Amino acid sequence: MVTGRAIGIDIGGTGIKGAVVDVGTGSLVSDRIKVPTPSGAEPEDVIEATRALLDRVADAAGDDTLPVGVCFPAVVQHGRTMSAANISKRWIGLAAQDLFAEALSRDIFFVNDADAAGYAEVRFGAAADEEGLVILTTLGTGIGSALIHRGILIPNSELGHLELDGQDAESRAAYSAKEREDLDWAEWAERLQRYYGHLEFIFSPDLFVVGGGVSKHWEEFFPLLDLRTRIVPATHRNNAGILGAAALARS
Ligand code: BGC
Repeated sequence: MVTGRAIGIDIGGTGIKGAVVDVGTGSLVSDRIKVPTPSGAEPEDVIEATRALLDRVADAAGDDTLPVGVCFPAVVQHGRTMSAANISKRWIGLAAQDLFAEALSRDIFFVNDADAAGYAEVRFGAAADEEGLVILTTLGTGIGSALIHRGILIPNSELGHLELDGQDAESRAAYSAKEREDLDWAEWAERLQRYYGHLEFIFSPDLFVVGGGVSKHWEEFFPLLDLRTRIVPATHRNNAGILGAAALARS
């Protein structure tokens, strides 16, 4: 079993959060520090805000040598950010892992945010005992996804960008669409039904885990969905990215 502490940092479209994690138990062992994502989410500004945040978290840890995992809302391939759905387009193609490592003066583990959250749910959360195929989706500004089979993460699945009825799925079914269009639970659930029904048809998963802040209201919309697949709320919600990034940095 993996033990020890690591720092997890979760970079999102609206906030950057970090904390020290006990990767044996999957719990935060420091306060969570959160700062706003600089407006426009330009690379230099986000990197600088992350550096300042890490200083504070490392101070709280009383240890400057802990492994650091950073998760980010884009495709991450070989350390490069390869997409930019809700952040500055300048991230596309950047060697972001190296840029962060240089600014933070240490090596980091760098991973997509939904992949980190999915890993956390499989290691320490709602999918801990699941032997088959798990699909985690985070319903937030966008839709993030993690595909995990028998505990192995298949990275960068980007299932929020499936085309559904001629549109990008996240633009219809993310939590931001509910807010933007002022949809009630039933109206939003119709879109989620279409979305999860399609995922189910393509992948035949064993379990859907639904994350993102709105998943704490799962009782409002899960009963409105008609799926073959079991669907459960994420255990860690807003901390899942931090936990997963830290656990991956220690793995
Ligand atoms: C991005 C994903 C990310 C998700 C959640 C999507 O728009 O394409 O990479 O995981 O948002 O932040």
